[in-house]
Amino acid sequence: MKRLSVLFTALAIIIASASCNADGGVQPSMDNAVIIFFSATGNTERVAQELAAITEAHIAEIEPAEPYSDTDLDYRDDSSRASLENSNPAARPAILPLSEDISGYDTIFLGFPIWFGDMPKIIYTFLDEYDLSGKTIAPFCTSGSSGISRAEENIRAMESNATVLAGARISNRESLKS
Ligand SMILES: Cc1cc2nc3c(=O)[nH]c(=O)nc-3n(C[C@H](O)[C@H](O)[C@H](O)COP(=O)(O)O)c2cc1C
Repeated sequence: MKRLSVLFTALAIIIASASCNADGGVQPSMDNAVIIFFSATGNTERVAQELAAITEAHIAEIEPAEPYSDTDLDYRDDSSRASLENSNPAARPAILPLSEDISGYDTIFLGFPIWFGDMPKIIYTFLDEYDLSGKTIAPFCTSGSSGISRAEENIRAMESNATVLAGARISNRESLKS
């Protein structure tokens, strides 16, 4: 039964991205979609895997060249790695090459946790390093309470040649139910 709730949240992502397009009209083609995600503690990964199971889309993880330790992730510590990356607009933590060639996909489902009200800087690295021009980006996130709107705005600002759909947010309590 618990798996059902993750299933529903994954379906909610598809429905949100299909119906809440901010630019109007364009809908993601599941036939040619790939799911790309970053997850430090497994919540976003669980949702991404469920989305992949439902859609049968390929999936690839954005992996940091240097993995995040628990200490790195301590958002209450102003000098933790995550805090320092967050407070430095130029921070672009290095990532490993994706396991999937995303150049041929039309739609990118892009999943991440909310950090400090925004997407983690590693997502900025991904957006800088990969050419998403002409593609449709469907963002989704997990978080404790924050919404996805700031991340969505920032993706839109960075990817002016892509169509960025309205994002979907899943509570980390929901994503834990598997
Ligand atoms: C460094 C850091 C900063 C966070 N900042 C926020 C935040 O601003 N708002 C929020 O609702 N949750 C915040 N969270 C909680 C995560 O968004 C949430 O636990 C998420 O589901 C983690 O996803 P993951 O397991 O895929 O890494 C933060 C977590 C970390 C580690």
